[in-house]
Amino acid sequence: MLSEKMEEALNEQINKEMYSAYLYMAMSAHSKHMGLDGFANWFMVQYQEEMTHAMKIYDYINEQGGKVKLKAIKEPPSEFESPLDMFEKTLEHEKFITKSINELMDLAIKENDHATQIFLHWFVTEQIEEEANDNEIIAKLKLVGDGNGLFMLDKELAARTFTPPPAKSE
Ligand code: FEO
Repeated sequence: MLSEKMEEALNEQINKEMYSAYLYMAMSAHSKHMGLDGFANWFMVQYQEEMTHAMKIYDYINEQGGKVKLKAIKEPPSEFESPLDMFEKTLEHEKFITKSINELMDLAIKENDHATQIFLHWFVTEQIEEEANDNEIIAKLKLVGDGNGLFMLDKELAARTFTPPPAKSE
């Protein structure tokens, strides 16, 4: 059973994950428009991952007998200066999400909500991976600049595929 406060905070997190999906979909659309199909693929896989994050929380609230409440998703930007700009904004956004997950964990600890603490472990680990991936791509983008290297990186990002996470948190 979730406290009212915990339920509200988890519902907020659904909205943040949905916005993340929307933001990466916008980046995918922008990449496609620029002819960078590999970047477009990477961001579309990221979009799919974010949707599964939202659904994980959706399922958890239901499982705990809570009520899911959906809120309006804010409009993401549609213009970006460059691939580097998109990944710097991605990293910045993921740091915001990490902070939000940490705050959820703080609340679960404060409320002695052991089930939610266990549930959130998966998200804590996921955020480490997400920030590491973004940092790695930012480093490569800084290395290659705008020329042929960008084309090579686009090919590399084209290989990313979506793997659904396990249905239950582990
Ligand atoms: Fe759902 Fe990118 O964190």
